[in-house]
Amino acid sequence: MHVRAAAALATALLGTAALLLPATDVRAVEDGTPPVVIAHRGGSAYAPENTLAAVDEAARLGAVWVENDVQRTRDGQLVVLHDESLQRTTDVEQVFPGRAPWKVKDFTAAEIARLDAGGWFSTAYAGARVPTLKQYVHRVDLHRQKLLLELKNPELYPGIERETLKLLGNEGWLDRKHRSRLVVQSFSATSLRTVHDLEPGVRTGFLGTPPVADLHAYAAFADQINPSYTSVSRAYVSAVHAFNGPHDKPLEVSTWTVNTAADARRVAGYGVDGIITNKPDVVRDALPD
Ligand code: G3P
Ligand code: CA
Repeated sequence: MHVRAAAALATALLGTAALLLPATDVRAVEDGTPPVVIAHRGGSAYAPENTLAAVDEAARLGAVWVENDVQRTRDGQLVVLHDESLQRTTDVEQVFPGRAPWKVKDFTAAEIARLDAGGWFSTAYAGARVPTLKQYVHRVDLHRQKLLLELKNPELYPGIERETLKLLGNEGWLDRKHRSRLVVQSFSATSLRTVHDLEPGVRTGFLGTPPVADLHAYAAFADQINPSYTSVSRAYVSAVHAFNGPHDKPLEVSTWTVNTAADARRVAGYGVDGIITNKPDVVRDALPD
């Protein structure tokens, strides 16, 4: 029996005694390792989200993992941006005033490359660009970081799974050794199933909190279940850990978006495997070494 399954069983057998353990001891009971810290949209509390500067900031803060959001331009280029619209995080309204609602899918890559994706955050970052996914993975590689890549709004971009995997393959990210540094996640189970079917060696994460009764179905194509920190509990984490995923390893849990030391300690106490945060320094300092 895997150590986590054994721990879950022990917790069940101990019953109320286990519930009396201090929260931060529970994961130590399981395997003694603190959760990995994942810089959400890069070091996005300190640099403009989803830019190369945010990757650099995450690296400077010692974050080994970064998370990003991938979408597609009108002419089929993959770019890194969170919102469906360019409005909030670029100067698109000024540069293209007649093009509301400024959706990513309505702009070419060349048009998006003209936008300032840093000035909205701070003048210190004015001139930062919306990176292409290719530029982004090069920067992640430069820092020897790992990538939690989110397919954002995949229902808007039919075929984005294949295109993303193709780009990753071209850049070496699907090589046997390299792909251990990659997880592809999405709120869309359909999209994740497609990723798994196309490239079964790549690990995947489902964003959400499926009912425990449904977890066995997710375990067929997802290696991780990644819930909001507001919806996660010790019991839920134990329930997820009790299932083996498509690579015959226990499902993992990375929770988001945790930005305070108190919340970091709380979810670490639940036994999560990863903490996704805008403030990797705050979370790291809150966890045991
Ligand atoms: O990585 C989890 C998180 O990114 C999901 O929410 O809206 O920030 O993409 P969102
Ligand atoms: Ca995301």
